[in-house]
Amino acid sequence: MSTEDNLDIEAVKQKLDNDHYGLEKVKQRILEYLAVRKLKNDMRGPILCFVGPPGVGKTSLGRSIANALGRNFVRISLGGVRDEAEIRGHRRTYIGALPGRIIQGIKRAGSNNPVFMLDEIDKVGTDFRGDPSSALLEVLDPEQNYTFSDHYLEVAFDLTKVMFIATANIQDTIIPALRDRMEIIEIPSYIVEEKLGIAEKFLVPKQIKEHGLTPEQIEFTEEALRTIISSYTREAGVRNLERQIAAICRGVAREVAGGEDKKTVIASKNVSNYLGPVKFYSEFAERIDEPGIVTGLAWTPMGGDILFIEASKMPGKGNLTLTGQLGDVMKESARAALSYIRAKSKELGLEENFQEKIDIHIHVPAGAIPKDGPSAGVTMFTALLSVLTERKVRNDIAMTGEITMRGKILPVGGIKEKMLAAHRAGIKTIILPERNKADVSEIPETVKKEMKFIYVKNMNDIIKRAFNNRKNGKQTEVREEAVEAEMVAE
Ligand SMILES: Nc1ncnc2c1ncn2[C@@H]1O[C@H](COP(=O)(O)OP(=O)(O)O)[C@@H](O)[C@H]1O
Ligand SMILES: [Mg+2]
Repeated sequence: MSTEDNLDIEAVKQKLDNDHYGLEKVKQRILEYLAVRKLKNDMRGPILCFVGPPGVGKTSLGRSIANALGRNFVRISLGGVRDEAEIRGHRRTYIGALPGRIIQGIKRAGSNNPVFMLDEIDKVGTDFRGDPSSALLEVLDPEQNYTFSDHYLEVAFDLTKVMFIATANIQDTIIPALRDRMEIIEIPSYIVEEKLGIAEKFLVPKQIKEHGLTPEQIEFTEEALRTIISSYTREAGVRNLERQIAAICRGVAREVAGGEDKKTVIASKNVSNYLGPVKFYSEFAERIDEPGIVTGLAWTPMGGDILFIEASKMPGKGNLTLTGQLGDVMKESARAALSYIRAKSKELGLEENFQEKIDIHIHVPAGAIPKDGPSAGVTMFTALLSVLTERKVRNDIAMTGEITMRGKILPVGGIKEKMLAAHRAGIKTIILPERNKADVSEIPETVKKEMKFIYVKNMNDIIKRAFNNRKNGKQTEVREEAVEAEMVAE
């Protein structure tokens, strides 16, 4: 059974606009994709893949598309699927055999032409039990999927009418053969102003309604929403924001049910009555209160994030210890940074062989999150130099960049998400590699105009810009001179 398609591009545009704030470029790309399908009069072709951090609206866009087209909507998660049988089903000779997830999904949809969302396509795995990707390739390949074979069904199933949409947090881990079949649409994280718009136009009205309240009983001020965004959530998307709004609505619903009949206005000062004490502080400025602590920027599948690197020294015999769930790449960055400092000890104002009498410990807090990637090289270097020279790093900056043993700074990925994360955390000045200059143009204008970017080419640029120029209140002229001398030498 098929449902009737309504491929009216204008109607789809209306629907997408009615359900989603902003996302202009994303909506545009979706409409173009559908327009092409309409002109060719056929749903075959590359499949759409929405890539972005959690809570930016990937699922919700898929649902809107289905609604607008008049199609049913189903969603399955491919996260952690390692076995071909999960996609293609088991033969009936197995006890407890079932069809695979694709056919189960079609069954649930109740039509043979649903919008079928394949969530977490970046997390499909392979191991000894088999490789699900070849089955997925067959699902997504328009040349093959008119005869998709599920082991349980035994007869070939025609998937050509299905509109598949995949979602992923990151592009890099999508199996290349699958990625070749996709048209990737990136959905970036939201800035505060966008979150505010989404909350006012969508999340608040939706939650008020879902809790059986009316706008006569509860109102959120803009200032309250800003407080929730900055002090109760720290995320790329709006999922926790929606949860916090729901929690407040729950609290108010209880008061109303308990007989209170006045209107509750949620303002910034009574947010904590419902949500408890503030969960996130702009802590970075206070944290950088002694030498050895530096704010870095990391990129994760959840979006960008800030991280602190803490270096300390103690009497010892030249050991370097690294803790905080660091990956190999990050450990190598730390060693490279230390080697560079040792090689340049004289210019940097350090005793020759300074490391022989001390042990150094580098720790990257923030819990159990495994951290890796080369982009913390400059942060490691700065933390080490800071603790060794006993100079504090400026507490209003964050940095990212890879380093070489020769003291050059190499460009890194994820600049846009990192800058948005810094902005979220209230950090306005960023040190980043000169060669990442072009990536800065992708940052939304409203964010960019509030930030200052310091581009660096080599370690000396960092030394000049990252440190407080005072040591115990005295100007550290000697070192500045040393740096100048080296700059000339290069
Ligand atoms: N631009 C937007 N406008 C309106 N609501 C949004 C927007 N982006 C996300 N949301 C809402 O945020 C919530 C989480 O979105 P969801 O689609 O589940 O995110 P994802 O699938 O990307 O993790 C949903 O309630 C969704 O409707
Ligand atoms: Mg989703």
